[in-house]
Amino acid sequence: MKLFKVAALPGDGIGPEVMREAIEVLRAAERKFDFKLEITGAPVGWAGIDAAGKALPEGTLALCKESDAILFGSVGLPDRDPTIPKDERPERAALLRIRKEFGLFANLRPVRLPGALAHACPLAKERQGGGIDILVVRELTGGMYFGQPKKTEDLGSGNFRAIDTMVYTTLEIERIAHMAFHAAKLRRQKVTSIDKANVLENGVLWRETVTRVGRSYADVALEHQFVDNAAMQLVLRPTQFDVMLCENLFGDILSDEAAALGGSLGMLPSASLGAGSGEKVFGFYEPAGGSAPDIAGKNLANPIAQILSAALMLRYSFGLNDAAAAIEAAVQRAIEAGHRTADIFSPAETTARKVGTREMGAAICAEVRK
Ligand code: IPM
Ligand code: MN
Repeated sequence: MKLFKVAALPGDGIGPEVMREAIEVLRAAERKFDFKLEITGAPVGWAGIDAAGKALPEGTLALCKESDAILFGSVGLPDRDPTIPKDERPERAALLRIRKEFGLFANLRPVRLPGALAHACPLAKERQGGGIDILVVRELTGGMYFGQPKKTEDLGSGNFRAIDTMVYTTLEIERIAHMAFHAAKLRRQKVTSIDKANVLENGVLWRETVTRVGRSYADVALEHQFVDNAAMQLVLRPTQFDVMLCENLFGDILSDEAAALGGSLGMLPSASLGAGSGEKVFGFYEPAGGSAPDIAGKNLANPIAQILSAALMLRYSFGLNDAAAAIEAAVQRAIEAGHRTADIFSPAETTARKVGTREMGAAICAEVRK
């Protein structure tokens, strides 16, 4: 039997409650498919600061290093931010640190609008076409997030100068472009590359490099869009997109926009992968939605993004394609059966039933066991 080690880091806000449901679903899948997970929990984010004085405690980092994959919840509690320096806050000291530490340059965010959730999409039905199905491939360890210099200078008299630097090298663009083309081959054979080549040096290099990489994927169509136009095209005609290839900051912004089209940010999973991607690669799996402190601990959060992130872990890091597909199908059936957390509920749907985090998790577990 295959055995894998998972570091489970629930983090803050809704993290712990959605993580609990994802682990239940993994346990249900384990019993049905032939694999075993050794899942070890550890604190991260404000939970790490409270437990061990740091957003990414040494013990947590050590656990991640000896694991085959990290299943991550979410970090950040903005209300507490003013109490510590910005470099020690969870977003930077835990999330960005892990991305850099493990070289997780490729972030995959699949957005799918299930037919049963057409009402939860902010776009009119005719714009949804035959269904929205987009994979955002976001570069995750370069660009404005990490470029140096990055600092704030005091110019005196209350005037400050804040500097962030956008940097990309050819090699960084090439490796993420290969990821996108590779993914497109397994989907609908189209890559839309996003840049701001009309203004930014980075955009020019991005476009040239992606075009060159694209020549070795003759079966994949390549299109380029400026980022402002892409933001508009997403709401006007989202069905034109298959794979959207973005640099770090553009991908951050456009993946939230795309998530809204998929019904809710609470439905968007993500996989962050490093070098050697393909089969059984170390990966980091997290819902894209954040810690949502306003609804934490109230049994209101949608656990689907966390559960689908766990499915991506089975697929990309462990090569357990059948188990991953079974979890995705179980989510689909739970939705078709009418289970709705508050974020995807509409009173107009007479056959749907509003449920909490636990009930949604239980419904998906039951579907996995069938
Ligand atoms: C995301 C988040 C993070 C990001 C934040 C929390 C640092 O928004 O994963 O999309 O900007 O990358
Ligand atoms: Mn984001």
